Amino acid sequence: MATSPDKDASVAVSEARLWQRHCEMAKLGATAKGGVNRQALSAEDIAARKLLASWATSRGFSVSTDAIGNLFVRRAGEQNDAAPVMTGSHMDSQPTGGRCDGIYGVLAGFEVLEALEDAGIRTRRPVEVVAWMNEEGSRFPVGAMGSAVFAGRLALDKALAVRDPKGVTVAAALAETLAAAPVPRRDGLGGPVAAYLETHIEQGPRLEAGRKTIGVVTGIQGSRRYAVEVTGEEAHAGTTPRAARTDALSAAVAIVSALEKLMEDPTDTVRFTVGRFEVFPGSPNTVPGRVYFTIDFRHPDLAVLDERGGRIAAVAAAHARGCAVSVGPLTDVPPTIFAAPVVDLVRDCTARLGLPHMDMPSGAGHDAMHIATLCPAGMIFVPCERGISHNEAENATPSDLAAGCRVLAEALTTLASR
Ligand code: GLV
Ligand code: MN
Ligand code: MN
Repeated sequence: MATSPDKDASVAVSEARLWQRHCEMAKLGATAKGGVNRQALSAEDIAARKLLASWATSRGFSVSTDAIGNLFVRRAGEQNDAAPVMTGSHMDSQPTGGRCDGIYGVLAGFEVLEALEDAGIRTRRPVEVVAWMNEEGSRFPVGAMGSAVFAGRLALDKALAVRDPKGVTVAAALAETLAAAPVPRRDGLGGPVAAYLETHIEQGPRLEAGRKTIGVVTGIQGSRRYAVEVTGEEAHAGTTPRAARTDALSAAVAIVSALEKLMEDPTDTVRFTVGRFEVFPGSPNTVPGRVYFTIDFRHPDLAVLDERGGRIAAVAAAHARGCAVSVGPLTDVPPTIFAAPVVDLVRDCTARLGLPHMDMPSGAGHDAMHIATLCPAGMIFVPCERGISHNEAENATPSDLAAGCRVLAEALTTLASR
């Protein structure tokens, strides 16, 4: 059977349909400030899964899930047993997340499937859209979990055992999710995958400042996450003299200050964030006995990650003020360099469409960093308003979202026809 790589999938991309789907998804977990709270395996995530699956089945695409709850929508290829070309991103959000982060990559992929269908374009390979489970890692604090398990970088049993702050495991939440939004289970995890592309908002200001519509993403900086527990002794706030206290909060504050010093960087390339900080028992008149906090540390250079990351535990111990301190690694993802032929293809498709573009690395982590270990991979960025992301005010224009989708359509058609 002949393939039709010469037909133009990008022309069939509908900006209006993509925007309408974007607005419908944004209702699921909508917050008062215009963002979304659709955390992994929550009721809102279940609703998003159901909606995507219903759109998919109504267009004749098949839907399936794997052992970690990644959701796949597949458009058959002429050679249906050939390794698929994949695209996607995530549907889960930060607790005070925006309307674009993640979901755009899923909807752009889905729009490409619809455009291929509308244009009557047959591809040699199947094309699969994936909604990777728990990319944000905000409820279950291991980010890009579904893609890491799929790529074999995180053991399935380890992922299933991760707990949210209420003690609910991924396994329990996933069982509930799949019971509420049932889809056929596919066997196995991982490849073969012929190629992977992910579209995403930039989540930073460079495209907007440079008046570019498309970021041709060359790679993703490395990142490490740690969980820190500081354990002191609870005591009465009114009666216990300072010398007799083992105050876990005082120690945790000193540790964070010392770590900020460790991470100082005149080039402002190091990214260091303490984003969760919990004090126990959390009573105004009890000296805190325990503090839990997370560290998110990123850099494009593995040597810097090794050198400074390797000193975190010692710096924490040196500022413990008599408390016990444990520093446990949560995730460790080395820097990613995307495959040159995929990066070149994205750049060529962008140029052919006449869109202003620039090459750029990604500061944010994405599922593509794990899938790039399975197959040639790349990413397409579009601008977001004032570079704001992980914020309810996050926004992007319908025309920029559609432009990224057109580049995706061109690139996927080419990859799926090889
Ligand atoms: C993804 O949201 C990240 O934290 O980079
Ligand atoms: Mn994202
Ligand atoms: Mn995010």
